[in-house]
Amino acid sequence: MENDSLRLNRSSFGNPQNIDQVLSTPEAKRLLDDWVLNEKLKVHMKQVAHLMKAFAASRGLDDLNIHKWYLAGLLHDADWDQWPDQHCRKIIEELELRGIDPEIIRAIASHGPRYFGVEPVSEMDKMLYAFDELSGFVHAYSLMRPEGYVGMEVKGVKKRLKDKTFAAQVSRADILDASERAGITMDELIQFVIANQANSDLS
Ligand SMILES: [Fe+2]
Ligand SMILES: [Fe+2]
Repeated sequence: MENDSLRLNRSSFGNPQNIDQVLSTPEAKRLLDDWVLNEKLKVHMKQVAHLMKAFAASRGLDDLNIHKWYLAGLLHDADWDQWPDQHCRKIIEELELRGIDPEIIRAIASHGPRYFGVEPVSEMDKMLYAFDELSGFVHAYSLMRPEGYVGMEVKGVKKRLKDKTFAAQVSRADILDASERAGITMDELIQFVIANQANSDLS
């Protein structure tokens, strides 16, 4: 998906006056239901949302901030299903229109620096980028294991990462780049996903 047309060509997102303005969980899920017809994509966004929420909680953030992390994960690919040629731009504009917290919008804007041309800066930005590809990869791995997530080990995930034919569409380079930018080792990142992803709320 090397596609220059997805570049956002901007560096500021949302309005600083809207700090702490969020969608409620039902509002965000309604947006997802309206925009995303592909159930697998919805599962992906709910899993990334869960990882973001769990990570924010592990950092000791307060409930409002945990919810912001959750929303960034839940909505980051909301426009991918129906408007792939407007991916990222459309959801950003929607959230700006709704007056949502700029931190959430910026995290979404930087979830694919190679495509959108926006560098992840905050910890929320960096972790969304880091969880995005790895979450889908670990999910694919769980589906091929008879026991799913049970007994899954970091070394098993790493072995699959080395196998270029497995989940070939997942960019290993992006996963590595993201973990370096986040300052978290691959092992820690993989361990976090294994430990948390199975508990995702997929409703
Ligand atoms: Fe995306
Ligand atoms: Fe994604």
